[in-house]
Amino acid sequence: MELWEAIKGRRSVRSFQDRPVERELLERLVEAGIWAPSGGNAQTWHFVVITDPEQLRRIRTVSPGMLGNPPAAIAVCQDLVAARKKGGELGASLAVMDAAMAAQNILLAAYDAGLGTCVIASFHKGAVSRILGLPEGVEPVLLVSVGWPARVPPPPPRRMDVISWERYGNRA
Ligand SMILES: Cc1cc2nc3c(=O)[nH]c(=O)nc-3n(C[C@H](O)[C@H](O)[C@H](O)COP(=O)(O)O)c2cc1C
Repeated sequence: MELWEAIKGRRSVRSFQDRPVERELLERLVEAGIWAPSGGNAQTWHFVVITDPEQLRRIRTVSPGMLGNPPAAIAVCQDLVAARKKGGELGASLAVMDAAMAAQNILLAAYDAGLGTCVIASFHKGAVSRILGLPEGVEPVLLVSVGWPARVPPPPPRRMDVISWERYGNRA
């Protein structure tokens, strides 16, 4: 797939077919995440792949932002204790950015494989941590639902008035 087609064609999918996603494909998505850049190459992330229907049901219960019934989800987590140890408070904020970079790689790799995804930030962090058995200091930053799309929404329009040249507000 052309990179530009992937960047523009990917949509947030919130309606999935009742069909499982093969383990190898999910591993590929995590591999894509692992190849994202990270501040100082810290790589303090961890990816929990969820496919067990009961685990998914528990996660859905505490994640109002998870719509539809995805057959899989990936929790992009960060070891904030390790990140702080490496880089103090800056390290902790970089770790959150790193998680977002990894998530975007996952979205694009999934789209390339014909899968639908949606990034989810609306979930109860403490409850998700407990359900996933995350150790002390490791936090879920984003959830990514993954599945074969049943419905792909039209692209929400993008604002185009967001570029300046040399100084803010200079449009020319
Ligand atoms: C940080 C972040 C958090 C998001 N959280 C949610 C969420 O909790 N639930 C949801 O359905 N979509 C969520 N989205 C998806 C956005 O609504 C979506 O990306 C946006 O409407 C643009 O649509 P598109 O992804 O199809 O281009 C989130 C996206 C981002 C980047």
